[in-house]
Parts: sequence; C-alpha cells; structure tokens
Amino acid sequence: MANRNFGNIGDVWKHVVLAEVLEREPPVWYAETHAGSGAYAVVYSGGREYGFLHFLEVAPRFPVLARSPYRAIAASYVESDRGLYPGSALLAMTMLGDASSYLLCDLDRESVTDLRRWSRELGLHSCEVAEADGMAAVMARLDSETRGPGLVHIDPFDRHARAPGGCSALELAARVADSGTGLVYWYGYEEPGAQGRAHKQLAALTRAPLWCGEVTVTGANESLGDLDHSATLCTFGIILANVQEGAAGACAALGNALSRAYADAVLPDGAPGALAFTSSTRVEHGKQT
Ligand SMILES: C[S@@+](CC[C@H](N)C(=O)[O-])C[C@H]1O[C@@H](n2cnc3c(N)ncnc32)[C@H](O)[C@@H]1O
Repeated sequence: MANRNFGNIGDVWKHVVLAEVLEREPPVWYAETHAGSGAYAVVYSGGREYGFLHFLEVAPRFPVLARSPYRAIAASYVESDRGLYPGSALLAMTMLGDASSYLLCDLDRESVTDLRRWSRELGLHSCEVAEADGMAAVMARLDSETRGPGLVHIDPFDRHARAPGGCSALELAARVADSGTGLVYWYGYEEPGAQGRAHKQLAALTRAPLWCGEVTVTGANESLGDLDHSATLCTFGIILANVQEGAAGACAALGNALSRAYADAVLPDGAPGALAFTSSTRVEHGKQT
C-alpha cells in the first residue's frame, strides 16, 4: 500500500467533494492520475481518528453532511464485515458503476492489483487500470477521448513533479480545465500561510473559470509538525473546473458544514482542531472573487 495516510482529514474533504460532483454530474468517463488502492483495511491512527472517524461520528448532526453521498458510501464500507475505508477510485466506481468507463493510474503494483480486483468485483466492463505515470496516461486520454463529458481527478503527492519529458500535475490540471473536461484537483500544504496559493498557481495557467474550496486547521499549528503525517496538513483544498454552479454551491455548503462540525474537534495531540473554510472563484484570468 503506497498511501499510508488514507482516511485523514485531507482525504475527507477530497472525497466529500468528489462524491458530490459525481452524484450531480455523472461523467461518461472518469480518469484518475494517482488512484491509490481501491480500499484500505481500517487501522487506527490519530490522523484517521481526527479524519474520517470523527467525520462519521458528527456528520449525522449536520444535515448537509448527513445527506452527502460520501457519508453514506464511506459508512457502508467502514461498517461492513470487511471494515474498509474506500479510496477515491472505489468511491467513483461504486457511484458510477458500469454506466461509465474508467482510466485509473498508479505506479504502485499493490494498488494496481487492488483496483483491478475491485473492478472485477463490481462487474465493470470498461475499467482500464494502468500501472503507469498518471500525468502521461491521462494527458494521452484527454487527447483521444470522444465519448462525451468526462471528469479527471488529479491527486498528486507533488504537484510539480514530472516524469522525464512529461508534464506536472499542475500543468495537466490546466490542460484539463482548458479542454472543457470536468476537473477535481486536490492539493495540500504542511506550512502555514499557504492559503490561496494553489488557486493562484492554477489560475495563472488556464483561462477556465475555477472554483476553490479550501480548509485550514486553525488550532495549534506549530504542534502539527510533531504529529504523524496524516494530521500535519495545515491547509488543503479542492479546485473544480467545468462543473455547474450548482455543484460548486453544494460543495461550498459542505465546506461550511464541515467547519461547523469540527468546531470542537481536537487534534491527535489534544490541541484544538477547528477548521476554517473559505471558497473563491476566479472567473477571469488572474482575477479573484
Ligand atoms: C495519496 S495516494 C492516492 C489517494 C487516492 N487518490 C484517494 O484519494 O484515495 C497517491 C498515490 O499516487 C501514486 N503515485 C505517485 N506518483 C505517481 C505517478 N507519477 N503516477 C501515478 N501514480 C503515482 C502512489 O503510488 C499513491 O498510491
């Protein structure tokens, strides 16, 4: 398993938004650059306690979160006999089923094997799992895809990393946005003061309107570095392109509800773990509202 931080608070925000967009605008094809495993056996960590375990505990008290497709699907896998946390690709496969086709990429053999197993278990007929660099594979698909509206999920470890001769996650995100294809782009920062940076970077590379929903851990940030990585992200966000206003509005409502739901949360070291949520739109190159 290459993704040791599954189920942390960054995953929660990413998966809440992804599931909302998929439910509102199911794509004909779905591609993911860094798919990870299909699902992960739930093992305890402080980051997961603060992440999906806290979310599932408090979500029923917040109607917007309680109704979210992420809550229902995550709860069904977590509470199943197998006790699994679903990754983003399995969320998509579960929600879209055989009505969509898939390109799921990862460099990690174990993750690829698990994704192929889930594709068989769910009876998907058009699911390509590529053990390959996700940026190159998705870029090639973007150029050749003719089946109708698609959605690309980009979830990089390092947004600037690139294979020799290839493009970075950030550059691919700009290409996806400019192509008119739906984009869900995740990012995270460990250091304070990074708010708005990713949105600015992507907006400088594309003319497509973007929506950004960003979450910041407002508690004792100086203590975050001492915690296991799954709790150390200080600021993380999702940028959407080529989705309807209604989907972006629904994601903003989810972000605000998440912030309320975490008002009294505590970080794994006992420090305050409240979350601040902001959303912004760039309707024109370089201009923010
Ligand atoms: C954070 S995990 C993915 C999590 C998953 N998207 C989710 O939300 O559940 C990142 C994954 O990227 C994979 N990876 C790293 N570099 C890659 C690359 N250039 N192309 C494809 N996958 C890559 C790693 O093996 C790892 O499984």
